Amino acid sequence: MKILVTGGAGFIGSDFVRLAARKGLKVVVVDKLTYAGDTERLKPIYDRIHFYNLDILNKEELKKIFEKHNPNIVLHFAAETNIDKSVFEPSIFMETNIIGTIYLFEIVKNYKIEKFINITSYEEYGEIKEGEVTEDHPLNPRSPYAVSKASADMLGQVYWRTLNIPVITARLCSIYGPWQNPERLIPMTILKALRNEVIPVYGAGDIEREWLYLYDCINAIFYLIERGKPGEIYNIGSGERYKVIEIVRKILQILEKPESLIKFVPDRPGHEKRVAISSEKIKKEAGWMPHTTFELGLKATVEWNLNNRMWLFKKLFYYENLWSKLYEE
Ligand SMILES: NC(=O)c1ccc[n+]([C@@H]2O[C@H](COP(=O)([O-])OP(=O)(O)OC[C@H]3O[C@@H](n4cnc5c(N)ncnc54)[C@H](O)[C@@H]3O)[C@@H](O)[C@H]2O)c1
Repeated sequence: MKILVTGGAGFIGSDFVRLAARKGLKVVVVDKLTYAGDTERLKPIYDRIHFYNLDILNKEELKKIFEKHNPNIVLHFAAETNIDKSVFEPSIFMETNIIGTIYLFEIVKNYKIEKFINITSYEEYGEIKEGEVTEDHPLNPRSPYAVSKASADMLGQVYWRTLNIPVITARLCSIYGPWQNPERLIPMTILKALRNEVIPVYGAGDIEREWLYLYDCINAIFYLIERGKPGEIYNIGSGERYKVIEIVRKILQILEKPESLIKFVPDRPGHEKRVAISSEKIKKEAGWMPHTTFELGLKATVEWNLNNRMWLFKKLFYYENLWSKLYEE
């Protein structure tokens, strides 16, 4: 098995690459190394993979990589991923997430690949006021990020129907765990709490999301590589749903920091209050199950960040700029 991974220096992609390399699989990584990518995540296995610092929008160079390595599995993580940022800088989201994905489909149609795993997001469903939705629920994206991911998602299905490209669509819920950039709720809260800084929380903190631990997510992706059916869509979630304020309080409790650090700030316009998915399909068809409860996963994530403070603090400069734009601190 030879796997080409786009976005393999990012939070989720790098965990897949580390595990795949340790399993002895041949891995080729293509990553532009935006602010979100970091080869430090790949350090322990860097000499066992082929790494290309390349924008997926560079179609000619991308073609050469396919020509040289001839992968039989493509795992597409590369994306602009910060939802808040997509509200004020939407173009790059459309370029990377839609055009970049089209380029990949256009290239793979000339190769005999077995599976193309298209990593997309449950944000595409839009607000789910109650209950949980299955894969056939209509998409109703409400942020530029979600629109770009929904487009890439639907394009994947079109390429399957029209050109038989064996696309498997994986719609992930909110993933958390080691190595996550502090632009996301959990590492941002940990970093700010460690520095005794104000922790901005949108609205009344009642935004609710579904949380899956990184290792369970990667495990699900391995299941899809082995047992996922081309043309099918799979939700990947944990069923464990928490409001933002509940998570921030839990982190403060673990770190023994006061709740007075919390500051409620105006919510992002159009912010979906709640998204929740059913993951019965991947459980039944591929036999996958998440194993890490949110309580355990959160403790492990806080611990990882405490043990890797240097890495977390290194990211501070970039994110301080971003935060000041987002939260008007
Ligand atoms: N993290 C989550 O909770 C979550 C939830 C649902 C879906 N997803 C999806 O999972 C995938 C991975 O998410 P993540 O959290 O690891 O993101 P991330 O932002 O940590 O990593 C994205 C990676 O893509 C690379 N990249 C960006 N633009 C590129 C380009 N034009 N060419 C090549 N590489 C480029 C970046 O350098 C980075 O390494 C994304 O497709 C995202 O939409 C993530």
